[in-house]
Amino acid sequence: MRVNFTVNGRPQQADDVWEGESLLYVLRERLGLPGSKNACEQGECGSCTVRLDGLPVCACLVAAGQAEGREVVTVEGLAEHARRRAAGAGTPPEPAGTSLDEARRWTAAPDGTRAAALSPVQQAFVDAGAVQCGFCTPGLLVAADELIERNPEPSDADIREALSGNLCRCTGYETILDAVRLAAARAGEAGPR
Ligand code: FES
Ligand code: FES
Repeated sequence: MRVNFTVNGRPQQADDVWEGESLLYVLRERLGLPGSKNACEQGECGSCTVRLDGLPVCACLVAAGQAEGREVVTVEGLAEHARRRAAGAGTPPEPAGTSLDEARRWTAAPDGTRAAALSPVQQAFVDAGAVQCGFCTPGLLVAADELIERNPEPSDADIREALSGNLCRCTGYETILDAVRLAAARAGEAGPR
């Protein structure tokens, strides 16, 4: 079957999708978006977390066909998603992330330059040192960003609840909590979004 959906503001189409094919497989293997990680494929670890029409879901548990006509945000589009949110709901969507064609033409940025801006929650993870091997990080970033969007002043219990489906094999949970607290505090200082 053919699946038409929007990923990070960009209309996408996947052909010859098998009925049992997961959204995660389509994102990673067909659309060239490997940020969402494939670990358990059973909904246990959260490393594949993406937003589907705004809700965080395990992309490994969503059949690709269920994404038909819907909007997906992956970690690759998080910075643009945050930028649009900060600019207000009326901001027209812009394609975010990297197209497959662009990815094929990718070259390393010169030393000292950054290829793309980070979202506030990504920057907070960097500043708090909340990344070890990094395998869990994309899913945590998507989940944490959704939490702060929904609840700008989360308590520690709120943070633990929101991230309870995201496992970190390196067990760096304290710095992950620090990062989410930092991102929420910075969002509060920046004023209402
Ligand atoms: S790979 Fe989807 S929850 Fe683990
Ligand atoms: S940083 Fe290694 S799994 Fe979380």
